Amino acid sequence: MSRLEEKIFQEYMTFFEKAERERRWNVFQDIPWERVNKDASEELALCAETFCSVEMYLPDYVANGINLVRKYFGQAWFQANWAYEESKHSLTLMQYLLRSGKRTEEQLSDLQHQIFAKKWDLPFHTPRQMTFYGCVQEMATFVIYVKHRERAATEGDECLRTIYDYIARDEIAHCRFYQSVIKVLLEEDRPGTLTDMAHVFANFEMPGVGIVPDYDSRILKMREAGVDRNVFIQKVYMPILKYLGVNRHEMLAAQRTALELRRGGERRDPSIEGLASAPNLDNTAPQALSA
Ligand SMILES: [Fe+2]
Ligand SMILES: [Fe+2]
Repeated sequence: MSRLEEKIFQEYMTFFEKAERERRWNVFQDIPWERVNKDASEELALCAETFCSVEMYLPDYVANGINLVRKYFGQAWFQANWAYEESKHSLTLMQYLLRSGKRTEEQLSDLQHQIFAKKWDLPFHTPRQMTFYGCVQEMATFVIYVKHRERAATEGDECLRTIYDYIARDEIAHCRFYQSVIKVLLEEDRPGTLTDMAHVFANFEMPGVGIVPDYDSRILKMREAGVDRNVFIQKVYMPILKYLGVNRHEMLAAQRTALELRRGGERRDPSIEGLASAPNLDNTAPQALSA
């Protein structure tokens, strides 16, 4: 194991020890299924169904993700544990939709067929870029689930509130792991890591875009429940940079450098492909989040 791999493995051990000790929850025992509110709004159900749909692409996330990092022990083992935790998210939300009477078995099986007719592909192709993508995606997902946790509470659905609470805790833990790996990578190669971060921010989209059935109309209906560009900057982008000890100017400089390198042509770096289409971080708001 190289020094870098050793450090990442240590981060995984810290993550896993904490997960085993503090964060395990049981779909069958820990959810107050009897406290589901069958009279909650259809909008609440539609949101749960949309999140469930995004979580259902798990086979693609796992297959693509784990193959990309299979030679890095800590990262590969993280993917395996991550997959177990994520598998509970879609399962629990599916159970919620059935037990609340909001959806029938037939409706869910229809939805599943539509979901599996499409495939999720890796949005980025290097382990470092995907690690940062994971970091942003998990943080954005966390923010969304926290928001919906409050919404479920407002609608008097203690069951769904509890589900979102457990899921949100998982998502922020996933984000923390990715952040800790990025910290190590920044120590190892700061300019290169910053360039990858700029690239990912500039091209970030939530995983459901273009594959979840009727994604755009779902997002429209979820308008007040989502995360708009401002919230993304305030609750995802800035906190991540702060946690990593990167200031916004440094980030913007990294993006400019990446663009210049690209314009220079000679030292064309595949990791910065796509930056030209989004030359300013102020244009990076993920469409998928502008709900
Ligand atoms: Fe999840
Ligand atoms: Fe997650």
